[in-house]
Amino acid sequence: MLSTRRLFFALSIPDTLAQTLVQWRAQHFAPEVGRPVAAANMHVTLAFLGDVSEQKERALRLLADRIRQPAFQLHLNDAGQWPRPGVVWLGCRQAPRGLLQLAALLRSQAARSGCYQSPQPFHPHITLLRGATRPVALPPANFDWTLSAERFALYESRWEQGKTRYQQVAEWPLPPPNAG
Ligand code: 2AM
Repeated sequence: MLSTRRLFFALSIPDTLAQTLVQWRAQHFAPEVGRPVAAANMHVTLAFLGDVSEQKERALRLLADRIRQPAFQLHLNDAGQWPRPGVVWLGCRQAPRGLLQLAALLRSQAARSGCYQSPQPFHPHITLLRGATRPVALPPANFDWTLSAERFALYESRWEQGKTRYQQVAEWPLPPPNAG
């Protein structure tokens, strides 16, 4: 049988910021609201690839090698809930152009390589809680955490000992803006 891996491209969240988000979440959401995503699993998905063969993974990595996009900053200053998938998320009121361009590029490369891409508009976010299907009172959006995106990564989603684990399998730098 051909082996596949469940993969996605994403921005990682530095440990210190992830810890800040864990604390903020604990202060604002009761435990029964939903299942908290572990700090180590927090990320901003850029393109979800699904179950990918080794050959397709190689092709997608080669395409990612060619991406030349400057680093950018993202302001985490918005929160919301999607009751249908049961997700409470953090995002940005205005997504930076660099983020939208990088995600659009990765998504079009994925689509051309045969990875199904959802027709839903891209809404960059960090999932904080899952299983939150009942309406949740959201705290005031009086926060503004900065995420400096200086690289993007390829992650594998694995089911290990009854838990989902996202493991980084490759990463690519995003050079500083104006780096020639
Ligand atoms: P989520 O956080 O909004 O649930 C790994 O599963 C990552 O890919 C998660 O961040 C998840 O987004 C996203 N993901 C999972 N299935 C997806 C799908 N069918 N389309 C788009 N993104 C998906």
